[in-house]
Amino acid sequence: MKLIIINGPNLNLLGKREPTIYGDSSFESYFENLKSSFSEVTLSYFQSNVEGEIINKLHEVGFEYDGIILNAAAYTHTSVAIGDAIKAIETPVVEVHISNTHAREEFRHKSFIAKNAKGVILGFGLDSYKLAIQSFI
Ligand code: DQA
Repeated sequence: MKLIIINGPNLNLLGKREPTIYGDSSFESYFENLKSSFSEVTLSYFQSNVEGEIINKLHEVGFEYDGIILNAAAYTHTSVAIGDAIKAIETPVVEVHISNTHAREEFRHKSFIAKNAKGVILGFGLDSYKLAIQSFI
């Protein structure tokens, strides 16, 4: 089972960024825990602050991997192009968010990804990623 986590803009700052919302652990250290918890899964990780790079990565893995776990961060709420990329590929995508976006500002309630995703997991902190992996195995 080959899965990839793709994180969008500002998620490289996890641990430092708004810790009351996103927690105080870096994604890199959480990712090490994930890899040891799911040793049966080949798990990769990609992060970019650039919309086109996220789309390129979706195209690259989207006919080859068994699953994509995507936190497109703020692009979730704005990006028609990422939504279209998910429609264009074959690999199923699970949309994740660390925070409960529905309990936050109105603009975070809209997702261009959810409609084309296999499912959506949000509001469980970093464990949203763990739940997303479990959904594939
Ligand atoms: C987020 C929620 C988004 O609204 C926000 O722009 C993020 C992170 C989350 O994981 O909770 O950057 O995707």
